[in-house]
Amino acid sequence: MNISSTKIILNLFGLLLTFVTGVILTKTGKPYNVVIQTLHKLSSIGFFIIVIVTCISLLKDRNLLTISQIFIFLTMIFFALSIISGGLVLALKNVNIYILYSHRILPFLGLTFGIITCILTIIKK
Ligand code: HEM
Repeated sequence: MNISSTKIILNLFGLLLTFVTGVILTKTGKPYNVVIQTLHKLSSIGFFIIVIVTCISLLKDRNLLTISQIFIFLTMIFFALSIISGGLVLALKNVNIYILYSHRILPFLGLTFGIITCILTIIKK
């Protein structure tokens, strides 16, 4: 399965913007800067959509190794949980420490599994 260069560029741009704005939000803390917060929300949603589209097109490859399928699936799960926990961090007035730390850890798990998926896909070729 060939992933177009447009998809790769969009993935990388969304990833960079989401992670950079996320780390800035954590470093600067509450009250969150409205511009950075909005940028983070929008870029994370865009990034999530492109990750899901890319993962689904990868899963359509019938020659894919089972291990690759597992990693693609886990990447989608971790980013889906990142979106949910991020939404909760902003929506809840008194955010639970577990939800806050989940949102600090889950995106990096998604990133790690995403990188492993890329390596597995490249090795297979
Ligand atoms: C795929 C989706 C998402 C990813 C990959 C992501 C990624 C991140 C990252 C990497 C951080 C910094 C964590 C750290 O420095 O340890 C962060 C922080 C944050 N994100 Fe997200 N995020 C996502 C979705 C969202 C959404 C949808 C919202 C809100 C609607 C949100 C709100 C926040 C907030 C408020 C913080 C700062 C939390 C704190 O005080 O530490 N995120 N995000």
